[in-house]
Amino acid sequence: MAGGFVSNRLRLAHRTENGAPPRLPSDQDASGRSLGDAELDALRDVISSGALTSTRGPWVGELERRFAERIGSAHAVATSSGTSAVHAAIVAVDPEPGDEIVTTPITDMGALAPILYQGAIPRFADVDPHTGNVTAATIAACLGDRTRAIVVTHLFGNPAEMAPILELAGRHGVPVIEDAAQAFLARDGGRLAGTIGEIGCFSLQQGKHITTGEGGLVVTDDPSHARRLRLWVNKAWPYGEADPDHEFLALNARMSELQGAVGAAQLDGLDGGVEARIDAARALSARLRGIPGLETPRVGPGAEHSYWRYCLHVDPAVVPGGPGAVARELAVLGVPSAPRYIQKPAFRCAVIAEQRTFGGSRYPFTLARPEALDYSDERFPGALRMLETALVLPWNERYREEHVDRLAEHIALATGRAMKVAS
Ligand SMILES: Cc1ncc(COP(=O)(O)O)c(C=O)c1O
Repeated sequence: MAGGFVSNRLRLAHRTENGAPPRLPSDQDASGRSLGDAELDALRDVISSGALTSTRGPWVGELERRFAERIGSAHAVATSSGTSAVHAAIVAVDPEPGDEIVTTPITDMGALAPILYQGAIPRFADVDPHTGNVTAATIAACLGDRTRAIVVTHLFGNPAEMAPILELAGRHGVPVIEDAAQAFLARDGGRLAGTIGEIGCFSLQQGKHITTGEGGLVVTDDPSHARRLRLWVNKAWPYGEADPDHEFLALNARMSELQGAVGAAQLDGLDGGVEARIDAARALSARLRGIPGLETPRVGPGAEHSYWRYCLHVDPAVVPGGPGAVARELAVLGVPSAPRYIQKPAFRCAVIAEQRTFGGSRYPFTLARPEALDYSDERFPGALRMLETALVLPWNERYREEHVDRLAEHIALATGRAMKVAS
């Protein structure tokens, strides 16, 4: 990985004069983002050129070329969002209506809606309660004749254990799509997340490792997937080919040149930003280890977590009230955190639980086999436990030692207070 992320554009937070702890940088504003002169210069170039669409200008192509080169994929296609990156990947594997795509219930709805839009059924696999990731064992329980693909999400930037998943998928002849929206430069077995399966998806949304506000990238080594990915973001119109036609049903999910220019500039800070996130996270884990009832992120052997977020686990049997109680105490101390990450597994959200899709048709759920719609608690002990214990801390590349100090002190204090309040 490249050297430390040091930029004279960065202003670190300092202790205030009255000794109050520094405000934590936030990735929702300039305090926790690395956006500056390089992005402004690139934007000026785009605007003065007058070409704001990627069908005319060079910037989206530049972002695609440089991202592909950085992560070692043969092809990268930029998209309008992480959701459309996943959508493009689902289109690339081209499921028949009613086919099943094995995926996780602990994810963003943007990773699931594209499956339904393509007429396929999300077949939910349980997750490891410590990492929130699907495993070869939980996927194996979901494979069947209708399985068209497996989507593996590297939750919070912590890579799923890919070798046994690839082995299983290979035995069943099913492609693996990686959802690396949260996992830029994470690694498993030395390979970068997003390049291990057949197709990898990334999000450039405001709070991701690098950002264009909204945006996405999808990568592959397979030329036929690459062609379908690119067609799908372009209404299936093959720009530059002889005798073009709209080849299949597709949308406009293009990234604009304004976003492409910002994205290309952001890439320069990616390595350093990830390194800073890892350094701060490791320092916090070292400080929190040994506090009763808390579990720091578990990273598999041979894996490297790139810390989109820092997910602690709080054992409610030791800390009464679990993550909710600690989060309340942290809020009093001015430290933001999200107990449970998402409030419920995806299959409890109305779109899936009540099959609210196209008019009153319930399509494509009408095509599903009953076992694919079995969302009973017994099938998801890992996911339910994970949500019951997760306490997610916002994280970004601007966290430094002083922020880690504050977090370590306040998490210890909040945990102690949560135990006292209960006793
Ligand atoms: C794992 C995962 N997949 C997909 C998405 C969708 O990305 P976007 O919000 O850019 O559409 C997200 C966004 O948060 C995500 O975290």
